[in-house]
Amino acid sequence: MNVHITGLGYGLPARRVTNEELAKTIDTTDEWIFSHTGIRARHIVGPEESSATLATSAAKMALARAGVKPEELGMVVVATSTPDYGAFPSTACLVQRDIGAVHAGAFDLFAACTGFIYALEAARSLMQNDLRPALVIGADVMSRITDWKDRNTCVLFGDGAGAAVLQASDRPGGIRHSILRADGKGAQALHHEGGCRTPQTGPWQGAYLQMNGRQVFNFAVKAFEEIVRDLIARQGITLSEVRWIVPHQANVRIIEAAARRLDIGLDRFFVNIGDLANTSAATVPMALEQLHREGKLQADDTVILAGFGAGLTWGGSLVQWQG
Ligand code: UT7
Repeated sequence: MNVHITGLGYGLPARRVTNEELAKTIDTTDEWIFSHTGIRARHIVGPEESSATLATSAAKMALARAGVKPEELGMVVVATSTPDYGAFPSTACLVQRDIGAVHAGAFDLFAACTGFIYALEAARSLMQNDLRPALVIGADVMSRITDWKDRNTCVLFGDGAGAAVLQASDRPGGIRHSILRADGKGAQALHHEGGCRTPQTGPWQGAYLQMNGRQVFNFAVKAFEEIVRDLIARQGITLSEVRWIVPHQANVRIIEAAARRLDIGLDRFFVNIGDLANTSAATVPMALEQLHREGKLQADDTVILAGFGAGLTWGGSLVQWQG
């Protein structure tokens, strides 16, 4: 039994904020942001939007494209670092309610920017016991945990959600192999306080993400290269057989550095960070959705999805695309 991605969707806030707009409120420039990250703009939620609302939009699109009814779903998994509620209910339960997945279980999964990769593998594994379709979502509203006065971090992030419908079938291909890795020794490199470790002195929203940019950058480049090399080694294929690498979109310079280390052209990587910035768990599914929407995926293409981020976590999935 193989598990295929049969529908993809995205959810983005309507409001788009350019680098020029940011430069009106903080000491930065479009030139600095673009040259250091590849980012030109990001989408930011309005007061009525949240991870659950973006995830629900993405989910409805993915289900319609897969031709799967919500009531057919066996599981809804949402990877997020910015759940609608501090502890519970899970964002997945809100999505399950709002799409009408009345027969599905639902849970959230925390693996930061690697979240979608973890969720994809969690759902794929669960489907070995329950053959019903599963919905896997990466959704984050980074703007709500970002300090908009800190130019070192606020220029990097955006809000969004990407969703994938998984279906079991005897057709060859689909999700062939996944690697999930973690190293909690790097926990402080990128963290967000406000959990039970922090004495409750104010609202959860008072905490902002904190990052050692250089440390995360260096980790990301090595982790990214490792994922790609391990996946192809385990599948016994060469890099020349991989049509697309769809990486977490954190910084185009991370992708360029990994391309140099892997000794392959940048044209084999799908990059859409320019308009969307780093949406954490949403980058990989939104990039895959755009790649598919633009008609760049052909049946039998070998695609590597790769994520890396806080935890530290990293991981990847090798997919033989069946369309
Ligand atoms: O999903 C994972 C999430 N995080 C990441 O992937 C982040 C990984 N790290 C990075 O992408 C890069 O380290 C950054 C983009 C965050 C920073 O780039 P960098 O080339 O490492 O710059 P830097 O931190 O070394 O800063 C260089 C200078 C500093 O000024 P001084 O101290 O040299 O005078 C910063 O204050 O650039 C300054 N700077 C800025 N200037 C204008 C930092 N942010 C900005 C800004 N606008 N937005």
